[in-house]
Amino acid sequence: MSQSRDVKNRDVQNRDAKSTDRESAPPGIDTSVAHSARMYDWWLGGGHNFAADRAMGEAFIEAIPTIRSMAQANREFLERVVRYLAREAGIRQFLDIGTGIPTSPNVHEIAKETDPGCRVVYVDNDPIVLAHSRALIAGGEPGTIEYIHADLRRPDRLLADPALAATLDLTRPVGLMMVAVLMLLSDADDPWGKTRTLMDALPAGSYLAITHPGQDFNPQAMAGVVAAANRGHMTLVPRARAKVERFFGAWEITEPGVVPVMAWRPEDGPPADPNAAYYWAGVARKP
Ligand SMILES: C[S@@+](CC[C@H](N)C(=O)[O-])C[C@H]1O[C@@H](n2cnc3c(N)ncnc32)[C@H](O)[C@@H]1O
Repeated sequence: MSQSRDVKNRDVQNRDAKSTDRESAPPGIDTSVAHSARMYDWWLGGGHNFAADRAMGEAFIEAIPTIRSMAQANREFLERVVRYLAREAGIRQFLDIGTGIPTSPNVHEIAKETDPGCRVVYVDNDPIVLAHSRALIAGGEPGTIEYIHADLRRPDRLLADPALAATLDLTRPVGLMMVAVLMLLSDADDPWGKTRTLMDALPAGSYLAITHPGQDFNPQAMAGVVAAANRGHMTLVPRARAKVERFFGAWEITEPGVVPVMAWRPEDGPPADPNAAYYWAGVARKP
């Protein structure tokens, strides 16, 4: 069952999307420059965004008018894959990198439907996510949900963070979630190497779930969003399917493979147009 097609973000229902501008920004947040977390929050109907984020979001919409529903499709994948990992793969611990501004249902809410004992560590490097992290982890049993403010480009620091070992048992399988985050690292940042460092820290039986904007769906439209991102000094690198597959290394990619996000184990029957959302999605298991 997909709860998400109608409204994704329970928080959002009570929010005035423009309210943030009337509030003071949390400390350490530069509201004059667009940030991916806040732009994505705006696409999803959230209220933790500012004029610069919405301007950048509009520029993306000019290049890809359906980009909001693509963000929703990405979010629906997150729900499906957490259900799949918890119900079918028996995963009880999740490490969600680039988690974003809290959007309900989030990983712990979905996983705990299968087993209330599931444990989740959320990671992001955006100060606004840190500012809202209390809301993200609220309601969980103490010690079962944690937020770590860390950068994917420094996986060593993340892995050494005491909160990680205090929450997850890294001798037992983990679901590593890299959902719509790797495109925010340039090739020079070596996102494959950074992901590999995290994968190597996990035991056999762990899973990696990825979504990634695809270069090969509509190259012209994608060039439009990349140009808009670059104008706003935001790194955005859509990648071709083969480059997305490379992230999984020697791990066994589960059925149906690396496919358009809407075609990854749809729960409401096959989508009318699986290529309507320009994201690749895939899941793999560590042998
Ligand atoms: C598009 S949002 C995706 C949110 C969520 N994973 C989802 O798919 O709904 C990307 C998130 O990745 C975070 N992010 C970007 N670069 C990062 C980095 N180097 N380390 C950690 N988080 C990062 C951003 O702050 C943002 O919250």
